[in-house]
Amino acid sequence: MKVFKKISPLQKYLQELRKKNKTIGFVPTMGALHEGHLSLIRRAREENDIVVVSIFVNPKQFGPSEDYLRYPRPFNRDKKLCIENKVDILFAPPVEEMYPEGYLTYVDVENLSEKLCGKFRKGHFRGVATVVCKLFNIVGAPTRAYFGKKDFQQLQIIRRMVRDLNFQIDVVPCETVRDVDGLALSSRNTYLTPEERTRALSISKALFEAKRLIVEEGVRDVKKILTRMKNIIKKSSPTKIDYIKLVDPETLDDIKGELAAPMSVLLAVAVWYGKARLIDNILVSINDREKIVSKVPRKA
Ligand code: PAJ
Repeated sequence: MKVFKKISPLQKYLQELRKKNKTIGFVPTMGALHEGHLSLIRRAREENDIVVVSIFVNPKQFGPSEDYLRYPRPFNRDKKLCIENKVDILFAPPVEEMYPEGYLTYVDVENLSEKLCGKFRKGHFRGVATVVCKLFNIVGAPTRAYFGKKDFQQLQIIRRMVRDLNFQIDVVPCETVRDVDGLALSSRNTYLTPEERTRALSISKALFEAKRLIVEEGVRDVKKILTRMKNIIKKSSPTKIDYIKLVDPETLDDIKGELAAPMSVLLAVAVWYGKARLIDNILVSINDREKIVSKVPRKA
């Protein structure tokens, strides 16, 4: 595995590979790699000739009172995991390489960036879109870029940026990886005490219970579903609830009233336990017609 800290040698190296018509799979991360990140890396490994991973804790996506300074940075461990997972190129630039003094240019994916987490983390998605745009340019338009559905809003914002700015990149959404007890893996889980971690299980419990209500019990009343989710989460005494929502997965707007098939609905949660702000979501498809059709016995 080659490790690059500087942009220019990486670009030269990648230009040579591109001349040989190699497909390039890119996985941007902030490090502290876990099985969620590794699932993206393994998928990129399967689908491309060359796998590039970036590790960069991007200061522009953290607010002034957020966890930029204490965000975990176990670089040697991450490097080892990348080697074990057959990464070809690791790009880990220092901050001044990405944002030299006098840096001025930002990418704002309007509207989508203001909803859900955007309401609570002002400027966060501007920072995300800016760094991902820079990374795409540095890697020189990878063939495919891999993003987790765990950060569903981020995924939608990147998809939109790719479309609006005409990047020729295939954005590949990847399933959320969870611990066996349901907790979605996150680098921020390391902030949880064992007791907080147990309480945090109520996030995935609430999401899967809501899915069960919709799919198995046929509940369509949004208020009823939200009340059930809120009750489960409130029982775990969270430090703070940022949001518990049912939204349209494309627009991220709240769904109100009744769910009406056929539709997809994103169940999305952001909750604090102690110093950890945790997010999770699941996508539920409601297609009543399919259900009815599947009840009709098939002809032999
Ligand atoms: P980070 O939180 O390190 O996540 C890197 C990638 O891993 C993202 O696409 C994220 O959605 C995915 N990921 C995280 N946890 C996951 C899980 N449990 N299952 C599946 N995928 C998971 O997201 C960022 O970094 C940054 O915002 C970044 C895109 C790198 C820009 O700085």
